[in-house]
Amino acid sequence: MQINLLSTPILQVSCSTLIINVYEEIVELDRTVALVDNALSGHLTTLLTEEPTCGKYGKVTILHPFGAISAKRIMLLGMGKKNELTIDKVRSLSAIIMRSAQKHHAQSVAVLLSSFIREDLDISMVAQAIVEGALLGTYQFNYYKTVKPLPATMEELILLTNESDDLSNVKSAVELGHILGDSVNFSRDLANHPATYMTPTQLAIHAKEIGLTSNLETTILEREDMEKENMHALLAVAQGSCQAPQMIVLKYTGNPDNTQSIAFVGKGVTFDSGGISIKPSLNMGEMKGDMAGGATVLATMLAIGKIKPKVNILGIIPCVENMPSGHAFKPGDVISSMSGKTIEIITTDAEGRLILADAITYANKLGATHIIDIATLTGACVIALGNITSGLITNNSSFCKELLNASLQTGEKMWELPNFTEYKEQLKSDIADLKNAGGREAGTITAGLFIAEFTNNLPWVHVDIAGTATNSKNVGYNVKGATGVGVRTLVQLAQNLSTDES
Ligand code: BES
Ligand code: MN
Ligand code: ZN
Repeated sequence: MQINLLSTPILQVSCSTLIINVYEEIVELDRTVALVDNALSGHLTTLLTEEPTCGKYGKVTILHPFGAISAKRIMLLGMGKKNELTIDKVRSLSAIIMRSAQKHHAQSVAVLLSSFIREDLDISMVAQAIVEGALLGTYQFNYYKTVKPLPATMEELILLTNESDDLSNVKSAVELGHILGDSVNFSRDLANHPATYMTPTQLAIHAKEIGLTSNLETTILEREDMEKENMHALLAVAQGSCQAPQMIVLKYTGNPDNTQSIAFVGKGVTFDSGGISIKPSLNMGEMKGDMAGGATVLATMLAIGKIKPKVNILGIIPCVENMPSGHAFKPGDVISSMSGKTIEIITTDAEGRLILADAITYANKLGATHIIDIATLTGACVIALGNITSGLITNNSSFCKELLNASLQTGEKMWELPNFTEYKEQLKSDIADLKNAGGREAGTITAGLFIAEFTNNLPWVHVDIAGTATNSKNVGYNVKGATGVGVRTLVQLAQNLSTDES
């Protein structure tokens, strides 16, 4: 999608679709829109008076100008109540209108930036959100269709500005929105691909490409390297599969003078059959997306390499396939880990925390000072928070606040769950240091507290995206399938921590 900032007078914009925002309970038109109304001999005002529902949030009404203006088609976008508009709604509204325009085979769509602006939503924020919404909302995964469905993704998005607008930061905001939209969509692609294609080795190939395009130091640990590092927890999960495990490490140094560095660690289980503790077959195919956390870390590193915040970031993605076989690890096994702690395997389906344990110990070894892990970790989180909110567990509330603040800026909802030590009782083993599963009760919390055992007390936040990584239908800027959740928030956190800002 081409994205252009233009100051062409509204009646002369050549585009297939012109978007006009209408608010609930407001018929008055702003100056620019009044020009369109005049050209249409007042029909717009008449319509808004006689069809008062046009302004309802997300409602789309089509109007044909029949040559009265240059645009071929007008689409009214219902904005809801004016005082209820937020930046996340702007992002969603952009997605809704672009998806609708796409359905009408629109090739170029023009929006008026000024009609989204309010005191707390400036023109740069609005431009960025519109670009993100457009890219996220029109995303399609057609890789495996030999006949590509029509309509294809639209060609051009035109952001119209007024002469009086202050454009000093708008161009970079548009660029930022473009990078973020593309990165989230890249994360979605990785998670939407079937598991037989998106193996650990394939993820590592993508990581090497990202390393080159985004100028990151890239290292891939192979099985022998992992053996040397005593990553027995990760290796135990990998041993049932024919697919070789890979540990992806991407390094971005944006502030060489600073000793601090955050590790983003993403669960990269390219298929989770459950292993010997095999899952029921209903919907098992969805477990191709059990590397969504890893995909998000990879996409985040892609974006960070382009945006270049002044902060040091490590991207670490332990990649394995969890399969039952004659080589597979078994319930009842006791395994070791890179940290030296021993783990009794209660179920081979609690595999994510095992690979994260070793990846986090490795992050420690590489000098990380802060850790955020992101993982499709527990079905319990889907039950607790649905597909709206990601669940957090932390050992450091001020670091967790930083992440929560970033999530408020991006609209990716996150909620901190309790981490009381009483819950750790559930992880006590009779024969090893820890059990890998603490039963059904508080499953998301005990999973988080298991991982906490391997953080070596570094400030750490765990993000459970089991519910938020996929969507069963199109909602706002999320479309059916993988959502790419977390990319925008992790990038926002990196930007907030960039020493540029302080
Ligand atoms: N990958 C799953 C969690 C999951 C469930 C992700 C649903 C997305 C949607 C994870 O590896 C898993 O199997 N967790 C188990 C843990 C339990 C056995 C302690 C679970 O949640 O049932
Ligand atoms: Mn599992
Ligand atoms: Zn899993």
